[in-house]
Amino acid sequence: MTWAFGKAILLGEHAVVYGHPALAGAIDCTLRCTLRIREQPGIGLLVPSWQLSVSSRDDHVVGRALRALAKILDAESLAADIAVDTALPPAAGLGSSAALSVALVRTLALATDQILSDQRVAELANHAERCFHQNPSGVDVALASRGGLGLYRRGEGMTPVDAPPIRLAVGLSGMPRRTADMVARIARARERDRPGTESDLAGLGNAAVAGKDAVIRGDLVELGQLMTRAHHTLARLGVSATELDEMVASALHSGAFGAKLTGAGGGGAVIAVAQERAEDILTAWQGRGYRGFVCNLGAKT
Ligand code: PMV
Repeated sequence: MTWAFGKAILLGEHAVVYGHPALAGAIDCTLRCTLRIREQPGIGLLVPSWQLSVSSRDDHVVGRALRALAKILDAESLAADIAVDTALPPAAGLGSSAALSVALVRTLALATDQILSDQRVAELANHAERCFHQNPSGVDVALASRGGLGLYRRGEGMTPVDAPPIRLAVGLSGMPRRTADMVARIARARERDRPGTESDLAGLGNAAVAGKDAVIRGDLVELGQLMTRAHHTLARLGVSATELDEMVASALHSGAFGAKLTGAGGGGAVIAVAQERAEDILTAWQGRGYRGFVCNLGAKT
């Protein structure tokens, strides 16, 4: 069995695509793969919690990613079924595709007797991630493979931040969205020189650095304020949604230190720094028809 972490971005999503830092951590909601050899040729993949069943021969985004990995890892002649067990919701900004990519790299390597360094696992998983998102910054894969909490910069990788895990309430809007579409939305705003776009992205990156300092000091009030401000900046950039704004307002009303959308936005998830108020926040979200869960950010192997 192989596995990988989900992740949540505390601060700096979208900005990280353009070289600004992002503060992000692995969450203790994982994805596990089990491989069974079969007689039929090809590699089958079954993810019951996502109602997904594909094969490496299918013209489906996951089938294409699987095929690409099997080719690079010289595993194309493998005849096997891979079963995936995860509570991570798909397309919600919680790193599900990166976790799947990392766990698949590890599974195919194991099945073909290859020992890969963490660095190589991340490189190959990023290759698969490009089937899901055209221009991934790499932050999801870095966390899915190694866990922990850190400040991530494209091209430089992850600088670990040593801090106790942070308890988060995660709220699910139930609206799937494509990361690539949301990233393209910001790219268009940049191309058209929409006023404030560059300074908003730089501001999100600066907030990630300030958030790292707050986390190190254990100052969750400051972290929360930075996150709520970042949510408003992301909304101004056009990547929020009515449901996400409603969940953020509800979390703040229920005592969160701060709340924001996480990941690409447009749907997907909201996170709230809550510590002992996490359950109250979940109850408030449930009252408005949104599911959620509590997790710890900064999970390590
Ligand atoms: O795929 P998501 O929703 O976790 O978004 C990743 C965060 C972005 O900054 C929007 C894109 C990226 O590649 O970093």
